[in-house]
Amino acid sequence: MTRNAADRPAAVPRHVAIIMDGNGRWANARHLPRVAGHNRGVDAVRRVMEACVRRGVEYLTLFAFSSENWRRPADEVSTLMRLFMTALQKEVSRLNENGVRLRVAGDLATLEPELQRRITQAQALTEGNARLKLTVCASYGGRWDMINAMRSLLAADPSLANRPQDIDEASLAQHLALAFAPEPDLLIRTGGERRISNFMLWQLAYAELYFTDQLWPDFDAVSLDAALAWYAQRERRFGRTSQQVGAPPVPAPVAPA
Ligand code: IPE
Ligand code: IPE
Ligand code: MG
Repeated sequence: MTRNAADRPAAVPRHVAIIMDGNGRWANARHLPRVAGHNRGVDAVRRVMEACVRRGVEYLTLFAFSSENWRRPADEVSTLMRLFMTALQKEVSRLNENGVRLRVAGDLATLEPELQRRITQAQALTEGNARLKLTVCASYGGRWDMINAMRSLLAADPSLANRPQDIDEASLAQHLALAFAPEPDLLIRTGGERRISNFMLWQLAYAELYFTDQLWPDFDAVSLDAALAWYAQRERRFGRTSQQVGAPPVPAPVAPA
């Protein structure tokens, strides 16, 4: 796995991860059923994906359905699954034409077989693309990811159970669902909540966290640019001091005359 190098110029994040929240509230505010918000959320995905390509973001990871979202009313869950299926079918050729490589990360065995089949097909179709690596996290949870990684590590080398001191961060990280990607540089959460909601718990350790009250269906290229501009001002220290990372010292506030 490529790790984020502390000395990389910070201007454009290489990997942007987004918790797409607020679809339900968007719909409620318009006296529409929640599904209307989810539908409009798909349009926002398209806009943001295109904007990421234009801005030179290499990896875009979207939280679409969490391990905990299975707790929602059954009709909302099935509507979301149907929407996912339709979006896959409708968008995949466009993704392919735009050089987007699609991956779906999560506990895919919990998805309906037909959806699993379409995911496999879409991943295979876009496998050769490299312009933007888009990952949709579905039935995904950060805790699931870590447990799954540990199981997979031990399955690959059962002798590790007898020498746990040989398990290190790098060996475990290779088994995470997003092991192919560098860690996210920037996490965006729309919808006003300031929490992680069990998203990429391991990989967000040093991400810059950007929270906005804007609801996901309203998020667009301008919103993304605001997040990228905020990110560009951040000093990423990865535990070091400001001097070590070579930034000019923060000017002391000027005392009022
Ligand atoms: C995010 O929007 C989409 C999913 C979690 C599937 P929500 O459906 O959580 O919208 P709010 O938070 O209720 O507004
Ligand atoms: C997080 O949103 C999950 C996704 C956006 C897929 P939620 O709406 O499920 O988060 P909580 O429950 O408010 O924390
Ligand atoms: Mg929500």
